[in-house]
Amino acid sequence: MTKPNTYQTTLALTPTQFSECLKTWQREHGRHNLPWQQNPTPYTVLVSEIMLQQTQVATVIPYYHRWLQHFPTFQALAAANEDLVLALWQGLGYYSRARNLHRAARYVVDQFNSELPHSINALREIPGVGPYTAGAICSFAFDLPAPLVDGNVKRLFARYFGITGEVNSTKFNNKVWQLAEHYTPPQDNRIYAQALLDMGATICTPRQPQCTQCPLQTTCYARQTQCVDKLPEKKKPTPLPTRFAWFGIDYNATGVVLVQRGTDAVWPRLWCLPEFLNAPVAAIEHGQFRHVFSHYKLTATVVQFKAPATNTRVAWDDLPKFGLPAPIKRYLAKVRSNL
Ligand code: ADE
Repeated sequence: MTKPNTYQTTLALTPTQFSECLKTWQREHGRHNLPWQQNPTPYTVLVSEIMLQQTQVATVIPYYHRWLQHFPTFQALAAANEDLVLALWQGLGYYSRARNLHRAARYVVDQFNSELPHSINALREIPGVGPYTAGAICSFAFDLPAPLVDGNVKRLFARYFGITGEVNSTKFNNKVWQLAEHYTPPQDNRIYAQALLDMGATICTPRQPQCTQCPLQTTCYARQTQCVDKLPEKKKPTPLPTRFAWFGIDYNATGVVLVQRGTDAVWPRLWCLPEFLNAPVAAIEHGQFRHVFSHYKLTATVVQFKAPATNTRVAWDDLPKFGLPAPIKRYLAKVRSNL
C-alpha cells in the first residue's frame, strides 16, 4: 500500500505527550481487575504472560488460578512432575509453552537463585522468554522502562504512526520496535505498558475500532487519512493444507488404552490414543474427528484395535490426571458418555 499524500495530517505526539495521554486513559478506562494485576510478582507475571500468548484473557483466567494453586512459586514449579504440568495446561494449546515454563522455572532456580533478573538480556536467556515477554516482565514485574511489542501494539502503532508494509515483515517489525523503544517512558512503565495492551484490546481493535473513544484520535495517522481498516497490512492467508491421521481405540467400561507421545511428535509428551503411521488395512472404523493446527487441518480416523497387553490402560475416572490433546479429550468424553 502506498500512503495517500493528499491529506494534511497533524503530527504524532512527542513521546512524553504520548505516554502521558495513554497513562491518563489507563487510569480512567483501562483494566485494573485482571488477576495477574493484583500484587504482581516476577513469577506471576511470567506465568500470566506465557499463558496469554496466543490465548484470550477470559480463557486464561481459570487456568492461571489453578496453576498458582498447584505451583505457587518458581521452586514449586521447578520441582513439579511434567505430567502434572501438562495436565494443568491441557486445553490451553501450544504445549511447548508449558514445557518452556517448566524449564524456565528450573533455569531461574538453578541460574538465578529463584529471582528473576532485571535486565532484558539476562531475561532473554530463560527458555521461552522472547523479546515481548522480557519487556513485559520488566514493565509489569519491576515497573522498569522496557519496550514491549505484541499484536496489539503492532496494530496500534501501525495505525497511529502510519507504518506500512506487511505486518510480520522484518522491516515492519524493526520499525515498530524502534518506535516502541523511543516512546517508552522513563518511569511509570507498568501503567503505560498496560495502557498499550488495553487500548489494543478494547479501543484499537482489529475490527470496528472505537476511534471516537480513543484519546489519540486527533493525531492518529490512520484516522486522519481514513485508512484505519487498511492498517496494519496483512499478508493474504494461504489456505491450510489437510493432513490425515489414524488412531486406534481399545476401551471397555473401565478405561481406555493411551500412550504417551514422544518429545518430537505433534502434541509432544501428551497422552493420546495410539497412532498408526499409515492407514490401517481392514480395520473397523470407530469414528472421526477434525482439528485445526496453525499450519494444517487434521482429519483423523479412529479405528477399533486390540492393544498389546503391555500398553497403559487408563481408568475413565483417572483421565483428568493425564495431559491429553483437546480433540482426543473431547472424543473420549463422547465415547464415555455412550457407554
Ligand atoms: N496480554 C498480555 N499481557 C497482558 C496483560 N498484562 N493484561 C492483559 N492482556 C495481556
